[in-house]
Amino acid sequence: MVLVSVLGLLGRFQGSRVSRLPNCRRLYGSSPVGARDEVHNGRACFTTPIFYVNAAPHIGHLYSALLADALCRYRRLWVPGAAATRFSTGTDEHGLKIQQAAAAARLAPAELCDRVSAQFQQLFRAAGVASTDFIRTTEPRHRLAVEHFWEVLKTRGLLHKGLYEGWYCASDECFLPEAKVTLQQGTSGDAHPVSLESGHPVSWTQEENYIFRLSQFREPLQRWLRDDPQAITPEPFHRTVLQWLDEELPDLSVSRRSSQLHWGIPVPGDDSQTVYVWLDALVNYLTVLGYPDAEFRSWWPTTSHVIGKDILKFHAIYWPALLLGAGLSPPRRIYVHSHWTVSGQKMSKSLGNVVDPSSCLDRYTVDGFRYFLLRQGVPNWDCDYYDEKVVKLLDSELADALGGLLNRCTAKRLNPAGTYPAFCTACFPSKPGLGAPSGRVQAEDYALVKAVSSLPKQVAHHYDNFQIYKALEAVSICVRQTNGFVQRHAPWKLNWESPVDAPWLGTVLHVALECLRIFGTLLQPVTPTLADKLLSRLAVSATERGLRELCFLPRFFGQPCPFEGRQLGPDTGLLFPRLDQSRTWLVKASRT
Ligand code: MSP
Repeated sequence: MVLVSVLGLLGRFQGSRVSRLPNCRRLYGSSPVGARDEVHNGRACFTTPIFYVNAAPHIGHLYSALLADALCRYRRLWVPGAAATRFSTGTDEHGLKIQQAAAAARLAPAELCDRVSAQFQQLFRAAGVASTDFIRTTEPRHRLAVEHFWEVLKTRGLLHKGLYEGWYCASDECFLPEAKVTLQQGTSGDAHPVSLESGHPVSWTQEENYIFRLSQFREPLQRWLRDDPQAITPEPFHRTVLQWLDEELPDLSVSRRSSQLHWGIPVPGDDSQTVYVWLDALVNYLTVLGYPDAEFRSWWPTTSHVIGKDILKFHAIYWPALLLGAGLSPPRRIYVHSHWTVSGQKMSKSLGNVVDPSSCLDRYTVDGFRYFLLRQGVPNWDCDYYDEKVVKLLDSELADALGGLLNRCTAKRLNPAGTYPAFCTACFPSKPGLGAPSGRVQAEDYALVKAVSSLPKQVAHHYDNFQIYKALEAVSICVRQTNGFVQRHAPWKLNWESPVDAPWLGTVLHVALECLRIFGTLLQPVTPTLADKLLSRLAVSATERGLRELCFLPRFFGQPCPFEGRQLGPDTGLLFPRLDQSRTWLVKASRT
């Protein structure tokens, strides 16, 4: 039987052991929560990196946050209830980088932090990033957490004071071995040392610091990654970390002299030293769970981190090692993405090519820009941004294909009763040749049913592998196929008054609306407002929008369909207006 049990198709995204279920009914009451979830009562926490406040947010930062937001929203479609899924983001406010940026802007560091942190909060609110916590590392709750974490490492004999020397890169906030430093010719012809990887300037540092015995953790980290091949996703990043672990793993300096770095958390019991900003920043993932209060134990390690590839080493080596050192497990999963470039170049203030995400949200709408970034952003490699690409994609996929399909099937002319029409099993038998030989159903129609039936499973698979763009691509392919179905059967040529045409006309519309219902449900994590508009037009209630209950075309599979005969929701206008048309309209309007 082709019937798709979405639940049975969920697969590893939930870490659940699920099997294909024979009918929709069985879906109800089944739990998609897997063994690892059950330990923590079905809890999960998603995080974004916390963002540096040395400069205003750009589209790369928004991309990081949207990926986490989509993962989190997707999970909520499986496990409803605000209490089960947490999602934290925030700003990383300490360190030399911020100290220097504040000095350059002639501001007190706290003032710079307040200003830029507010910009991130405003952007995320505007972009529909539905976080449950926004942490600032300058908050007292975080200082408490860092101090406690430090004391635990100290008590466990993992910190000692020693002479640390090496190159320090303030922009990247990290020490670099000699091999990772090169000389770069400046504009005035003089050579200065820079980081080989980032190109940022480095300076020689020699000072007494607290050192964390990172070298002790090489084998435990290798074991963790070998035992859990999905710990770091996509797979090439997992492999990269294992390769790093094949090399030597030197101990790590985890403090700086306060005379050098005063903008940070003082080392407990030794205020001549300031806690290294990366240790400070990483602990935010515990702070948001209530650490060190015991309540955090009911959440850790349910956390999955979304991070950019540039901060992989900090999250996949330093952080798990620090956690193991503190007697805690590594995070549940680390999802890694690549970067957005502009005309093939890295975005930077000095190049003047930074794309402002707020103006993109204004220009392309919130859902439009969310869709663009998540549809075009490929975690495995960098993606190039340009405006024409956004207009082309949104016009073709959201305005024409999806919006056009909804418009066609709900328009008064085709659907004068404004209902979810009845499905006629004799017109569209579950197996070719079973029903009355009307000769209207074609092989492509069965292919469409098969494709949309398996769509939720495909989407689950892609979310699990952190390939959200592939999930959206799969939806888009099915939207195109559904348009083909409507085009093929040209319902506008059929007559509601004709007893021969009417059941078939209803069936064509019913199938198309069922497809739209699946698309709307699956698009919720990426385009929440647009999906709400679509589902409301189809009269799908709030309790019918989850993935547990999602069952495509039940009438085809011999099940009752709760939507059949229902009055459609109100027509609230175009689902997604074409961008280039609205531009034309704007030009015309400005001329008159
Ligand atoms: N503060 C650290 C993270 C600490 S997490 C404990 C940091 N901040 S950041 O502001 O520089 O970067 C935050 C995130 O934005 C990172 O995941 C980074 O990869 C991402 N991006 C920065 N530039 C980007 C692009 N051009 N494109 C996509 N993401 C980018 O690192």
